[in-house]
Amino acid sequence: MTESALRALINDLTLEEKIGQLVQLPGYFQSEGAVTGPAGDMGLTQDDLRLAGSYLSIIGAEKIKKLQTAFMAQHPHHIPLLFMADIINGYRTVFPIPLAQACTFDPEGVEEGAAIAAKEAAAAGIHVTFSPMADLVRDARWGRVMESAGEDPYLNGCMAAAMVRGYQGKSLHDRGHIAACLKHFAGYGAPEGGRDYNNVELSERTLREDYLPAYQAAVEAGCEVVMTSFNTLNRIPSAANEWLVKEVLRREMGFTGMVISDWNALEELLAHGIAADQGEAAFLALRAGVDMDMTSPVYARNLKQLVESGKVPLAWVEDSAWRVLQLKNKLGLFEHPFKDADEEEERAVLLSPAHREAARKMAEKSFVLLKNEDHMLPLQPEEAAFIGPYVDHIYLNGAWSIFANDQDTVTVKAALANDPRTRNVPVAPGCPVHDADQPIMGFQQPVARDETDAEAALQEAVELARRSRKVVLCLGEHRECTGEAASRGELTLPKCQLRLLDAVTAVNENVIAVLFGGRPLDIRPLKEKTKAILVAWLPGTEGGPAVLRTLLGESHPSGRLSMCFPYCVGQMPIHYNHLSTGRPFHGDCHDGRFGSKYQDIPNEPLYPFGFGLTYTTFSYSPVVLSADRMKADETVTASVTVTNTGTCPGTETVQMYLRDISASVARPVRMLKAFVKISLNPGESREAAFTISEKMLRLYDLSMRYVSEPGTFDVFIGPDSQTMNKARLTLEEDSMAQEME
Ligand code: GLC
Repeated sequence: MTESALRALINDLTLEEKIGQLVQLPGYFQSEGAVTGPAGDMGLTQDDLRLAGSYLSIIGAEKIKKLQTAFMAQHPHHIPLLFMADIINGYRTVFPIPLAQACTFDPEGVEEGAAIAAKEAAAAGIHVTFSPMADLVRDARWGRVMESAGEDPYLNGCMAAAMVRGYQGKSLHDRGHIAACLKHFAGYGAPEGGRDYNNVELSERTLREDYLPAYQAAVEAGCEVVMTSFNTLNRIPSAANEWLVKEVLRREMGFTGMVISDWNALEELLAHGIAADQGEAAFLALRAGVDMDMTSPVYARNLKQLVESGKVPLAWVEDSAWRVLQLKNKLGLFEHPFKDADEEEERAVLLSPAHREAARKMAEKSFVLLKNEDHMLPLQPEEAAFIGPYVDHIYLNGAWSIFANDQDTVTVKAALANDPRTRNVPVAPGCPVHDADQPIMGFQQPVARDETDAEAALQEAVELARRSRKVVLCLGEHRECTGEAASRGELTLPKCQLRLLDAVTAVNENVIAVLFGGRPLDIRPLKEKTKAILVAWLPGTEGGPAVLRTLLGESHPSGRLSMCFPYCVGQMPIHYNHLSTGRPFHGDCHDGRFGSKYQDIPNEPLYPFGFGLTYTTFSYSPVVLSADRMKADETVTASVTVTNTGTCPGTETVQMYLRDISASVARPVRMLKAFVKISLNPGESREAAFTISEKMLRLYDLSMRYVSEPGTFDVFIGPDSQTMNKARLTLEEDSMAQEME
């Protein structure tokens, strides 16, 4: 529809119809009798359902086409519905969780995965996905770490932008693409105590330096929708935060698309204590710039009266309704209200062999090898027994994989059985996945008790371990221990699994741990008792085959930690790009006193950001700079030569970090600024070169201006965030700037 036709349409709408466009209803309202049921309970009327702008979590081409047809027929202006859903890491073909995808350090691969997710979801009738989640996370107690890209601002931004490109393609009109909704704006990943929905207290400088860049990258990549977060940011709920939405998101970042609240977040403004009633909540949210109310009755039940009483300008409603209609128009829904919903396409693309293969390849790239003593890995096909609750555990999808069927997942045990070389490998569960005294309330239902006979299972496992040359021990948190509202105060493995670890390692010294789950854990016992550790995260539909291929050396691990594995929960929050403090401390926590340290635990994590091993080894030459001084309008190239010094091919993720030695405000000891993956055969060398620009050197100065300051910088290039391979660069005074001052 042309802009003038769209303008004519909105001008012809009644106030009720304009307000209706700002309302998103939960999919279950589409069940029969909703108005006398959940909708009625919320005070919504048949009219509210009749005029709504969008539904959430309705899927399936046939269902959506039928619903869209019926809905448009009864709508006074036949305006199509927006169908939105959470496609977080794949639709029916499930990819690794986003935290694992970030460990690939492969934005192109993540973009391809998002494009596959979009193709499947579009065929099923979805128009918008509530992804990417670009919340920086430094606290593994927060369960939604699973959905994030981890602790680094730059890597988060690369991943968020890649997902936006994958979902949206070149044009939303193109078949198989859907609109991306960036979330959760802003700072949701930094709740006090790592407890979901809790307050977030960030200085404006920390917010801008560390938390906003990833959102900005997604906006610059063209995301069409932004979701405000549940949390208060410095005591103001994001859904009522006019500065955050109108000043930062729209004016500074230039976002012109639609803003949607999170689930029922407008109603929650009352619980936050900043709205005395729903009317005030509606006023605050609309004034802040929230265009669409996700699943609360606040807009539907209050805006008409607020406008008619003059408390809310009609223009506020019309501006928001305009952005909703523009999104529908960008998706081509006025001409093609079904967009890509197509039963035949659904049958063809969902879980297609090509999609399964893509998911498996990404899973393989997401695995992080933390330890591999005595060349435990790769394995010969029959040299190890497979023990542990994750050997035959079907729940390898992340908690947000709500439109997938767990029955489609290939477990480790199934992968062993499907391969003639491993079909006779002995397996044993050894223990339940989680402790009986730790019942887990899952995302959609309680996690069923694991009825494994613990004693018998343990004995069986010990006997098997005793008679085996090696043991692959498949352990990890249940997938329902991460995701929304899944914060945890402890980061240790379940007690029953630690017991199994002790029993198995007591009778077999060649144990390889494969760790599943959605967050970094305190894995000191694994580091102490096993000879190899492969982090598999929640690898998705093809997780089993991906793990087996990696263990057998048919795929070589190349993943790097997108978030550090802490020494223990006491370090939370922890991140590599911390400030120096006036008393920096490294070394044994029992030495000395007056340093920024603990008395009982180290400052450093167990495994740092960016860390990961491969089946080969690499060496790095010293860092070479094309010049050791640069002006603001120049660039410098920093390079190293990387050599495969091992005996098999491998892929190295070369990382470049900067440190601003002295500035007008304290700066992090490291900042990731670039990375590149290079694959080398044994003995092969190649140069990895990075261009350093003045923009990379900028900071928010004392006056909160985003500028670079003359001075010296250390340029680090190495395999992880703790590399000491560095050279020094000086940014010269800018004589022009001096003259102007
Ligand atoms: C949830 C989540 C959000 C999700 C939305 C719709 O509460 O916070 O990430 O997209 O509701 O399901």
